[in-house]
Amino acid sequence: MRKEDDRFGPGYEGEPLTVTRRKTGRVIAFRVFSASVFFCICWIWFYRVTVPLETDENRTGLVGFMLVLEIWFGLYWVFTQALRWNPVWRLTFIGRLSRRYGNHLPRLDVFVCTADPEIEPPLMVVNTVLSVAALDYPPEKLAVYLSDDGGSELTFFALAEAAEFAKVWVPFCKKFNVEPRSPAAYLSSTATGLNSAAEEVAQLYREMAERIETAARLRRIPEEARLKYGDGFSQWDSDATRRNHGTILQILVDGRKEKRVTVPTLVYLSREKRPQHHHNFKAGSMNALIRVSSKITCGRFILNLDCDMYSNNSKSARDALCILLDEKEGKEIAFVQFPQCFENITRNDLYGSMMRPGKNVELHGMDGNGGPIYVGTGCFHRRDVICGRKYGEEEEEFEEIEEITEPEMIKALASSTYDENSQWGKEMGLKYGCAVEDVITGLAIQCRGWKSAYLNPKSKAFVGVAPTNLHQMLVQWRRWSEGEFQILLSEYSPVWYGQGKIRLGLILGYCCFLFWAPSSVPVLVYSVLASLCLFKGIPLFPKVWSWWFIPFGYVTVAVNAYSLAEFLWCGGTFRGWWNEQRMWLYRRTSSFLFGFIDTILKKLGVSESAFVITAKVAEEEAAERYEREVMEFGVESPMFVLLGTLGTLNLLCFAAAVMRLVTFRDGGEFQRMSLQFVIAGLLVVINWPLYEGMVIRKDKGKMPMSVTVKSVVLALSACTFVAFL
Ligand SMILES: *[C@@H]1O[C@H](CO)[C@@H](O)[C@H](O)[C@H]1NC(C)=O
Ligand SMILES: *[C@@H]1O[C@H](CO)[C@@H](O)[C@H](O)[C@H]1NC(C)=O
Repeated sequence: MRKEDDRFGPGYEGEPLTVTRRKTGRVIAFRVFSASVFFCICWIWFYRVTVPLETDENRTGLVGFMLVLEIWFGLYWVFTQALRWNPVWRLTFIGRLSRRYGNHLPRLDVFVCTADPEIEPPLMVVNTVLSVAALDYPPEKLAVYLSDDGGSELTFFALAEAAEFAKVWVPFCKKFNVEPRSPAAYLSSTATGLNSAAEEVAQLYREMAERIETAARLRRIPEEARLKYGDGFSQWDSDATRRNHGTILQILVDGRKEKRVTVPTLVYLSREKRPQHHHNFKAGSMNALIRVSSKITCGRFILNLDCDMYSNNSKSARDALCILLDEKEGKEIAFVQFPQCFENITRNDLYGSMMRPGKNVELHGMDGNGGPIYVGTGCFHRRDVICGRKYGEEEEEFEEIEEITEPEMIKALASSTYDENSQWGKEMGLKYGCAVEDVITGLAIQCRGWKSAYLNPKSKAFVGVAPTNLHQMLVQWRRWSEGEFQILLSEYSPVWYGQGKIRLGLILGYCCFLFWAPSSVPVLVYSVLASLCLFKGIPLFPKVWSWWFIPFGYVTVAVNAYSLAEFLWCGGTFRGWWNEQRMWLYRRTSSFLFGFIDTILKKLGVSESAFVITAKVAEEEAAERYEREVMEFGVESPMFVLLGTLGTLNLLCFAAAVMRLVTFRDGGEFQRMSLQFVIAGLLVVINWPLYEGMVIRKDKGKMPMSVTVKSVVLALSACTFVAFL
């Protein structure tokens, strides 16, 4: 017994490092409410099966169609309930962790991935690196790896400069307990009243930033730097390009040999790339990092961060370890996921970037059912689990690195052919061949018997920047929906592969995301059908005074009122919720639809996959419009043509129906069609920024003329066609 206790370190008193909380009262209230909605959904289905539409002609086809759509919406609603059925909240006790372990914490490797110095400015990347280098963690146990898939000398130069600056920054942060520990964020948050020590550091930072930005602007590395960091730069051949270069590996700060260091180990890696070998995007670079780091510091835990997500809370690593090192619950947890938070969000979150319900409700719900998805950033993994250990197998011993491996041997691990004919990308590391490699990897880990944990502390752990215009946002969602749909169709699909491996609640929760792309079709059809039938005067729903109207009315009101209440509870505003509803519609009728079509075409072998990085910088005027929450169009995109056409169609149909109502003063028509009037009316209101962009606005961010013309022509043709049908 005594021995057991020793293993936990001094100070072990059997107190847990983490506890899980449930809010029973609220959960019961929610379940009752949810059951009432489900009852009404069944009532609607029953209505469709038994009662014909109130039209002169026989329209069984139309009724069947509506039934199929409503069954679909009902099922999808069930998926969303799975995400809310059983939420849990976790608390951690970092004081107990410190008492138990002191500075004898396990090694932690941080992986930061960047891919393009144009889209992801090196200064931003360096701020991310510095923020994690200054984590509240013993520096001799911490290592930060930067994977540069752009193979850019500029990024290397920036990191080398940052390694110098870290010698001042890290001790400064620890001495004065600075938060947040990204220098840019810290200095902008405390613009006034720096003390003299801080002023000195700020001056050094500004000089470094100046050197990096000048080099970026001139696209030239200063000669002094080439001399100073010569053994790094010498690894670039004269003919090296982004897509064709050897492995570049430089350990900028080497903390392996010393016992006491002030700055953690800092490593730059740009894996080998050759045009004839597929490099598997971010998954490939993560896997190269896993292999390379195993020969350098071999941390038992790995934190994975996107290059634009700085650490906003220096205790986050300790928080995560409270869960992973907990003697009871921690043993079955493979990874700890933090939410993705953003700093560039305007008050009413025009593009729905915050995903408030996702962050504050749905991921907690998944946690209660076995664990959140792995979202690809802000996630602490166990190294051996990500490398394939199954739940129940003995954990490997992580020993101190005794011998130092030759750099040439380590570099071989990042060669472009290393993965071929190996388990990498299949059973080991992140999986290849999926546009959301992180989600499928997390799912596979859960299917090997592991759980995961979701930690959402008040003080946000990692903070990044969200896309600041509509098109970027839609492109990002298109890739996500495509990836999720690929998982649904893949051999790892939770629907069949997950059966018996993960809980039913979790499978249903995953379905919510996996069915994003296919869910575009029913939403599209429903919105078009409701408008066109209003235009033609065909009622689709029961009369207001009929008993049958009750379930329709109840479901419509209840679902929306619930969603509004949930949104406000998550800290959003009413306008924010309204914007979120608009984005819900736009994502489905553009991103998801294109994602759906793309995936099908790929399955048929018609097109190839591509990984689109979303830009993180905006030009000045556009940034100003973003601040004012004016929707940004500006580019000629087929997605916008689709949105424009649907918006115009709604407006035309609604206008025609209102005209008819006014001319014929037919109160009966309004009674028969009230729900359709409401739906079409709401669609018109929700599309208002779109109409403004198409006809009223004159700035650069308005809808391009060609898109407007195409949309109007298409919508008019559709109406004309239907009118003669
Ligand atoms: C970063 O953390 C601080 C607390 O240290 C908090 O006040 C701030 O809101 C966080 N930033 C973001 C963008 O969440
Ligand atoms: C993000 O917001 C900050 C302050 O609100 C601003 O200075 C910065 O330019 C913004 N960045 C982008 C990419 O919009």
